[in-house]
Amino acid sequence: MVVAYESRSRHTAEAANRIAAAFETYRAQVGMVPLGSLAPERLVATDLLVIGTWVEGLVLAAVGPAKAAMAAIERLPRLAGMPVGIFCTNFNPGGTLKTLQSVIEARDGQVIETAAFGRWRPVTPRSFADGCSWSFRSVGPAR
Ligand SMILES: Cc1cc2nc3c(=O)[nH]c(=O)nc-3n(C[C@H](O)[C@H](O)[C@H](O)COP(=O)(O)O)c2cc1C
Repeated sequence: MVVAYESRSRHTAEAANRIAAAFETYRAQVGMVPLGSLAPERLVATDLLVIGTWVEGLVLAAVGPAKAAMAAIERLPRLAGMPVGIFCTNFNPGGTLKTLQSVIEARDGQVIETAAFGRWRPVTPRSFADGCSWSFRSVGPAR
C-alpha cells in the first residue's frame, strides 16, 4: 500500500507517518511518497492507497483540499476501483473531505475511509488505519 501526502509545513507528513506506522503493525508493506511525486507505475502494484492533504482556504471561505493536492490527483491515472482512504489536517475542514472524495471517485477510486485531523484535537491515525483496514477487507483489492 501507499500513503501519499501533500504537506506544506510537515503536519500532514507527520500524520501520514503515524498512519503508515499504524498500518505497519498489521504487517502491511507501506510506501510513503509526497502526492506530487506519486508516479503512475507505483499504483500498479498497490492494493490500497491513502491520500492526505492540508486544508487550504480563507478559514471560513473557499475552504478545500490544498490546490497542489487537487492538481496532483488530476494527474493520476484512472484508479479502476482502487480502495482509497482519505484524510486532511486542518483547523476547520469545511467540505474538504467531500471535495476530495468526489475528485477521487471521478477518477474511479473507491473511498473507503475518511478522517479530518484537527490541530487541537488528538490525532488518531490508529483508528483511521483500523477503519481503512476493516473496509479494505470487506471490499477486497482493486479490480
Ligand atoms: C495559506 C493557508 C491557508 C489555510 N487555510 C485553511 C483553511 O481555510 N481552513 C483550515 O482548516 N485550515 C487552513 N490552513 C491550515 C492548514 O491546513 C493546517 O495548519 C494544516 O495542518 C497544515 O498542514 P501541513 O503542515 O502539512 O502543511 C491554512 C494554512 C495555510 C498555510
